[in-house]
Amino acid sequence: MPQQASRMQLVRPSAIRELLALAADPDVISFGGGYPDPDLFPARELAAAYARALGEQAAVSLQYTHSEGLPRLREQLAERMRADGMECGPEHLFLVQGAQQAIDLVGKMWLEPGDVVLTEEPTFLGGLVGLNPYEPEYRAVRTDDHGMDPDHLEEVLRANPRAKLIYTIPDFHNPTGVTMTTERRRRVVELAREHDVVILEDAPYRELYFGAAPLPTLKSFDTDGRVFHVGSFSKTLAPGLRTAWVVADAELIERLALLKLASDTQNSTLNMAAISNYLEEQDYDAHLDRIRDHYRGKRDHTVAALRAELSDDIRYVTPQGGLFLWLEFPEDVDTDRFLREVLIPEYRVAFVPGSSFYSENPRYSRGRLGFPTLPVDRISQGIRRIAEGYNAFRSV
Ligand SMILES: Cc1ncc(COP(=O)(O)O)c(C=O)c1O
Repeated sequence: MPQQASRMQLVRPSAIRELLALAADPDVISFGGGYPDPDLFPARELAAAYARALGEQAAVSLQYTHSEGLPRLREQLAERMRADGMECGPEHLFLVQGAQQAIDLVGKMWLEPGDVVLTEEPTFLGGLVGLNPYEPEYRAVRTDDHGMDPDHLEEVLRANPRAKLIYTIPDFHNPTGVTMTTERRRRVVELAREHDVVILEDAPYRELYFGAAPLPTLKSFDTDGRVFHVGSFSKTLAPGLRTAWVVADAELIERLALLKLASDTQNSTLNMAAISNYLEEQDYDAHLDRIRDHYRGKRDHTVAALRAELSDDIRYVTPQGGLFLWLEFPEDVDTDRFLREVLIPEYRVAFVPGSSFYSENPRYSRGRLGFPTLPVDRISQGIRRIAEGYNAFRSV
């Protein structure tokens, strides 16, 4: 066999797979998952939308369409993006197979091997997995309870002339659950302009807010087309639809659509037609209200259990949206070891060890708790087990 391309050195399975496989045992209460709750999938409404797509609309919805996506869905989404404060016509938006494909295509468009990608510290593992084949170097930007720290971003940009792309998750971050302030959003876009880098604004949790409507997008501060805003139906309708979208400058959308044409031609016309029907026939905003209520209830339950059970030396920020909460243990606690040796085998509970979420310099004292799919009684029970396991782990 010939040697595989050098990019393949960066393509490997993640180390947490093995640990999460241990947690797959049904009597382990796992806070490891990041999947949305299947009870919230609007299956009946989607069935009606697919029936119409396969009935009177079949000639169109079973046919090829544009690489940018089905025109009527682009129009509907552009209208929603305008309502969310972005300047957006259908020419500024195209459909992709999940936010994950947006990460891939934006990486393909901009990155030469050795270019520097700036990420939050920590960041979404799938973002790194998506960009790795383009052989970038990563620099982590310090993050606190209010998102990426722009002063540190400036320092890192100054120190790295090959910086090309900032990858950020400003709303209800995965894994930390925190939200970037409006002031920081404005500053991050200004810094990107000053240092001539592009921004990938990955926002799949944006519509899962529990309190006030989310803060303005980074895209809304973009004056020269350097922000790629990515939204997704994965957490709001269903991830199996593999439907997400990118908002960007019209010329760049055309270029990205050429890359999409090269890789998979277009999203499924049928899925796009069904989603378009769903948006036309159903009250999507009422559906969003329902799922926000559902996840807010789980968040409240999780936080109440943490308050009641958890040792005071473990810190966390109450997330204002999304599906995750980040536990910060004292620095000398190695959560990989804690999970492997104590929590999973003895206390039958799991979360994702924090070390998996760093683009450089992993920290071992952190952990991600996902609360979307667990019933509330399992949440309380699971947190009690974490607290008991922690007390036992600390006392040896
Ligand atoms: C921050 C972030 N970006 C992207 C994705 C991928 O989403 P999609 O299903 O739209 O590809 C996820 C999924 O968990 C995510 O958490």
